[in-house]
Amino acid sequence: MKIIDGKAVSLKVKDELKEQTKRLAQEQGFVPCLAVIIVGEDPASQVYVSNKKKACEYIGYKSLGFELPESTTQQELLELIEKLNNDDTVDGILCQLPLPKHIDEETILNAIDYDKDVDAFHPTNVGKIMIGNYHMLPCTPAGVMELIDSTGVSLEGKNAVVIGRSNIVGKPMSMLLLHRNATVTICHSRTANLKEICANADILVAAVGKAGFVTEDMVKEGAIVIDVGINRNAQGKLCGDVDFERVKEKAGAITPVPGGCGPMTIAMLMKNTYNAAVHRRNVIDK
Ligand code: GUN
Repeated sequence: MKIIDGKAVSLKVKDELKEQTKRLAQEQGFVPCLAVIIVGEDPASQVYVSNKKKACEYIGYKSLGFELPESTTQQELLELIEKLNNDDTVDGILCQLPLPKHIDEETILNAIDYDKDVDAFHPTNVGKIMIGNYHMLPCTPAGVMELIDSTGVSLEGKNAVVIGRSNIVGKPMSMLLLHRNATVTICHSRTANLKEICANADILVAAVGKAGFVTEDMVKEGAIVIDVGINRNAQGKLCGDVDFERVKEKAGAITPVPGGCGPMTIAMLMKNTYNAAVHRRNVIDK
């Protein structure tokens, strides 16, 4: 059994981007610029946003932070997005979710210029992912693909099972696996025979949001198990959706929480920011 080291894989992606960014600065005279917006004071969101800014610093991107009060109106937020859409020096715009209840998330996500939508949440980018012609990667699913690829296992013809059907993870995850010729099953809270379906998976991706949801009897011997969950257990400790200690004895490869998918999501956001910059600025990337 192999424990997949998300920190190491993400560092490799970030180091490659660092090199590419150095080259952009030397040869093209600019570095990518990411604008990050946070509304309100959700502590988890503040940690995520701070990690995103740190990643920008590490790679050498410019980052702009907008920390808006909880009382910000939808109109004010839309005006800021419009300003950033029209700012030619800004390559990527990220509005951290969740937003306060008085702001409609869909309206905000639709307002971001889809060429700057580094989360790939805009319907145009979602559609492109469905078709298979995209340069904005859905960050968490794209990170999962990198982790699977780090095992060296081919996806062609394999049974891949995704537990969870969210717009952010489950649905785009299934598309990326499908584009790589896996046979994909999406399971959710109404799925009958969940255990049997999962136990037939060569690749099992858990994105449920429930600690200890995936037990060893749901896992095929030698399967690749990717845990996208971020939960707190009864002791308040950070854990995923998979019963890691037991499942690791059966899996061929498995991601831990923390240190698995989490670092990859940010690395993929950084990759999108780079891709958005070279795409927008018509750079022929070598
Ligand atoms: N909140 C939790 N995950 C994400 C994410 O990937 N992007 C944004 N914008 N907000 C989030």
